[in-house]
Amino acid sequence: MTSLQLRTANPAKTRTDVVVVGVRETGRGPQLAPGGEDVARAYGRKLRPLLSSLGVTGKAGETYRIPTNKAISGTLLVLVGLGRDLDQVAVRRGAGAAARAVTNAASVALALPAGTPELVRAVTEGWLLGGYRYDTYKTKKSEPGAGTVTILSEVARRKEAETAFEEAQVLAEAVAVTRDWVNAPAGDLTPPEFARQAADAVKAAGRKVKVKVLDEDELAELGCGGILGVGSGSDAPPRLVELTYSPRGAKAHLALVGKGITFDSGGYSIKPAASMNEMKSDMGGAAAVIQATIAIARLGLPIKVTAYAAMAENMVSGRAMRPGDVLTMYGGKTVEVLNTDAEGRLVMADALVRATEVDPDVIVDVATLTGHMQIALGDRVAGAMGDEEVVDALLASAETAGEALWPMPIPDEMDERLQSKIADVLQHDWIRWGGGVRAAAFLREFVDGKPWGHLDIAGPAYHPGSAYGHITPGGTGYAVTTLVEYARALSSSSD
Ligand code: BES
Ligand code: MN
Ligand code: ZN
Repeated sequence: MTSLQLRTANPAKTRTDVVVVGVRETGRGPQLAPGGEDVARAYGRKLRPLLSSLGVTGKAGETYRIPTNKAISGTLLVLVGLGRDLDQVAVRRGAGAAARAVTNAASVALALPAGTPELVRAVTEGWLLGGYRYDTYKTKKSEPGAGTVTILSEVARRKEAETAFEEAQVLAEAVAVTRDWVNAPAGDLTPPEFARQAADAVKAAGRKVKVKVLDEDELAELGCGGILGVGSGSDAPPRLVELTYSPRGAKAHLALVGKGITFDSGGYSIKPAASMNEMKSDMGGAAAVIQATIAIARLGLPIKVTAYAAMAENMVSGRAMRPGDVLTMYGGKTVEVLNTDAEGRLVMADALVRATEVDPDVIVDVATLTGHMQIALGDRVAGAMGDEEVVDALLASAETAGEALWPMPIPDEMDERLQSKIADVLQHDWIRWGGGVRAAAFLREFVDGKPWGHLDIAGPAYHPGSAYGHITPGGTGYAVTTLVEYARALSSSSD
């Protein structure tokens, strides 16, 4: 187990194996970033030729490992490029890259820019998340991380810095468990298993959050035709997990809804093989809302949160739904299904209607909903849709969280595309254009005019490539941090 601490100390004189320092890219060549002053002083005039002989530029993501030969008391100096702007996004990424550049050290001192509570938070989160590994299925487990990690900061003794440091650890843990769930193979993380693990996670976090798991019989009794319809093709039955965190003195009530498709084969509108590869990640929205709720409770934010995680496996069988079927959603609206691969909106519809019934101030849903959003924004940026005021607040929270989020419109003409000849709402219309925003228009049919925001995280929820910054291969935990920041903003703005 790693022990993590926050202290003020001189990194050139601290007794430690490894010292990590940031390098900034400037017009006049690379420069050690704030936090590295004492190290720069210890090297003196030798620093410049050392950096230039190594080819250090300070570009974001580059790392160098340099034996110190007693120039400072640590034996290894790790330099990590931070790019030009040393904001919290750059520092979080740099700390993440540094975590992977340091292997096999008993002790590490991080002398990265950490002069404000926000930067202390960025260093802590970046380090913990950049070092994330998923080795559940490896027979040879990865090396344990460093024994002692010390985050150096000149403001370490300030209460706000200590709080930021503690909160960052809670958040990093929530993000890590979200990643674990997304990375878990779909054959093992079926809806009943996901629900069980969600309930266990809630219980492990103390008594603050209540959890209710609705099974297929209860869903049938309620008339949750969307979740049941999508789940009908699988041998593993669907679940709806409902969480409630209701602290005394809550300033607002936030409802969260997450898409929890544990595997998306497409159903009878089956996906091409290559598009199916990553579909164990189609529950990233549900994982994020569950872990965000747990984190909000652990942080004790004064806001009531009710979260809904709609879990089903989208498979093919003699009992599966067909294109052309009509499903009756919770609350009674009927939906004509024309593409069984547009299953996310069907499970979300039931859960959104459930959310309207607890009379929240705002509903935010999170879903790996459409490949269209990934095509529009790339695979590192999520789309935000819904009521302008909610979207604006979500964008601001994403900025604080260091997650890339961009607004998308729901054009008026989308409503025409929701007309069905035989049911209340048409699920899918086979028009190629604007599939992501049309999906948002469909979801809006189920929020009963309540203030609402929708995050389509199909791109950033899963990272198939190799690690960069604090993002590791596989599940990213996208949206957890943004949701927590959004809850924080709601709980402080409405008093
Ligand atoms: N789970 C997918 C969306 C997705 C695509 C997530 C790529 C992550 C990466 C979703 O259920 C789906 O299949 N969407 C369809 C919607 C279409 C039928 C309107 C899509 O994106 O093609
Ligand atoms: Mn699908
Ligand atoms: Zn899906």
